[in-house]
Amino acid sequence: MFRIDRHLTTDDLDKALRSDVAEGLTAVPKRLPPKWFYDERGSALFEDITALPEYYPTRAERAILESRADAIAEAADAEALIELGSGSGVKTRLLLEAMGRHGALTRFVPVDVSGEFLASSARRVADDHPDLDVHAVVGDFEEHLGLLPLPGEGRQLLAVLGSTIGNQEPGPRAAFLRRIRAVLRPGDSLLLGADLVKDPARLIAAYDDAQGVTADFNRNVLRVINQRLGADFDPAAFEHVARWDAEAEWIEMRLRSRTDQRVRITDLDLEVDFGAGEEMRTEISAKFRRQPLTEELDAAGFDLTHWWTDPEEDFALTLASAR
Ligand code: SAH
Ligand code: AVI
Repeated sequence: MFRIDRHLTTDDLDKALRSDVAEGLTAVPKRLPPKWFYDERGSALFEDITALPEYYPTRAERAILESRADAIAEAADAEALIELGSGSGVKTRLLLEAMGRHGALTRFVPVDVSGEFLASSARRVADDHPDLDVHAVVGDFEEHLGLLPLPGEGRQLLAVLGSTIGNQEPGPRAAFLRRIRAVLRPGDSLLLGADLVKDPARLIAAYDDAQGVTADFNRNVLRVINQRLGADFDPAAFEHVARWDAEAEWIEMRLRSRTDQRVRITDLDLEVDFGAGEEMRTEISAKFRRQPLTEELDAAGFDLTHWWTDPEEDFALTLASAR
């Protein structure tokens, strides 16, 4: 069975984008939130990133899931799988199949802001699992957790894969984990993918690949603003920058203006000046260590029960139990 709830109409998206762009482009320094990378083109570019030789996280997490999906299914013993930021759901299928083998699974709730991409990937899951109730939700996981179609009873497993949790700064991330805890019941599980701190050269290569796919992904946010808000950004006039912040232990993606330029955002009646060399932050991608992540989970009301890594210890998949 397949159903889809849409909590983000085109109007909602435009309204939220207008507010983020008005705030971010008038801030000093300028910034934009990463969720606006993901229109259909951005989601497809992210999929291309996952296949790049430099971008190890997806392969590492898939390798962990390939060997641990049955253990996860057994430990979680859940009837519903909820996935926030589900994307293409390629890795999720490993989990769905293991949960199916384990026997309890009846419902899958994939949640994503990228509506058309979610609709087609969730429908494919439903086609391949005719007995599963696939109830997709087009929504913003920072806003709409309270609206998810969660079963009134039965155990739940909520997954945030791909280290998507690392795209939030520590304060909002703590609040997000608490909100996740609030939609779960004691004994429910959280499966969290977390990219680990490693050699900065490898990290920078993963976010500044030789083929320039990540650069296109980064610049896609400018195309989204052009299309949705009638802006006249010239994406080629911005250079992709990936920087490792050793203190914060995160990668920062930025767009650097190649020249002095003025951009008009018609729908906001706003003109924004960029100086040559001026950088605007478009994403952080935090990298994790075991002890601090265990403490973050604890502070949100979760007990970490499993910490699995790939053989190179590039990536961790953690399972935590709601108290
Ligand atoms: N989980 C997949 C995809 C990760 S990419 C994987 O591991 O490969 C991040 C995903 O989160 C994208 O599909 C993007 O559209 C979605 N996303 C980003 N911000 C979001 C938000 N605020 N609310 C809902 N989905 C979001
Ligand atoms: C979705 N998210 C976890 C990706 C990351 O690695 O932070 C997004 C991405 N940005 C650049 N490349 C991939």
